[in-house]
Amino acid sequence: MRIRRSLIDLDDLTPRELAYVFERTEQFEAAPPGALLDGFGCVNMFFEESTRTFTSFNLAELRLGAAVVNLAPRDLSLATKGETLEDTALTLGALGVSIIVVRHHEPGFPQRVALAFDGHVVNAGDGVHAHPTQALLDIYTLLEEFGELKGRSVGIVGDVLHSRVAHSTIRGLQRLGAAVVLIGPECFLPHDYADEGITIERDFDGVLPQLDAIVLLRIQRERFVEMPITDEEYVSGYRLDERRLAQLRSEAIVMHPGPYNRGMELDDSVLEFAGWRYLKQVHHGVGIRMAVLDFLVNGRR
Ligand code: NCD
Repeated sequence: MRIRRSLIDLDDLTPRELAYVFERTEQFEAAPPGALLDGFGCVNMFFEESTRTFTSFNLAELRLGAAVVNLAPRDLSLATKGETLEDTALTLGALGVSIIVVRHHEPGFPQRVALAFDGHVVNAGDGVHAHPTQALLDIYTLLEEFGELKGRSVGIVGDVLHSRVAHSTIRGLQRLGAAVVLIGPECFLPHDYADEGITIERDFDGVLPQLDAIVLLRIQRERFVEMPITDEEYVSGYRLDERRLAQLRSEAIVMHPGPYNRGMELDDSVLEFAGWRYLKQVHHGVGIRMAVLDFLVNGRR
């Protein structure tokens, strides 16, 4: 079987393709492109909770004229009747489905779907592994702000270890020449990144004035059994609040992939900060996903 074009992580896009996806995002946001996916069957399979990602994939598919089916885990014979993932993929292919968007707690699950399915697969988040469309919309938001990322310093703060968003975003930022600083307590920062030219920083206050952008992360409590430090310790070292905002450069921006937990990684003053870009990120999620789906199915035009 021919493996069709899929997006499992950012490495699946060459630099030219990455630039093309951003160019198309801008076009699609400026004017609806019409039914570029007319007649294409698209199944969304989300085995984990999702608000932003699920809704924006749905809207992107509908805006491109795809025939959309949403399969919740309880609807899938895969989950309850012993059907294998591979047989599910064959079955959906025989039904004329061309695109599967999948979120799953198991790292590598979307790759397995892609190997078994004669169509396009988009990873909407697999365990702690990758979340390429979130990384794309984060990077698009940064590019919109700064024009280019060479020489810009982006701090990613918090539970990097369990964040698939961080893992994909770090790769993308490095490719575009940004300096990446990972900030957080020892227990949340993977050491192997230090070998890849990425700065590891425990002292959030010390590094604040050097950053052009901050990406805050949620503590992903569903991915570990016991919180390795107390909430109070985390808040005192890493919560972004009014006092820390005052240390930032005047043009610095603050982002978050969502969902954010008020009181933990940020307090309410961040939501009123002039450089808070969360809603912009969410907004770009639709255009980015339209651009990705169009590119995977129709290629470059
Ligand atoms: C993230 C996710 O699910 O990986 N959210 C998102 O897709 N926007 C981050 C998180 O859950 O904290």
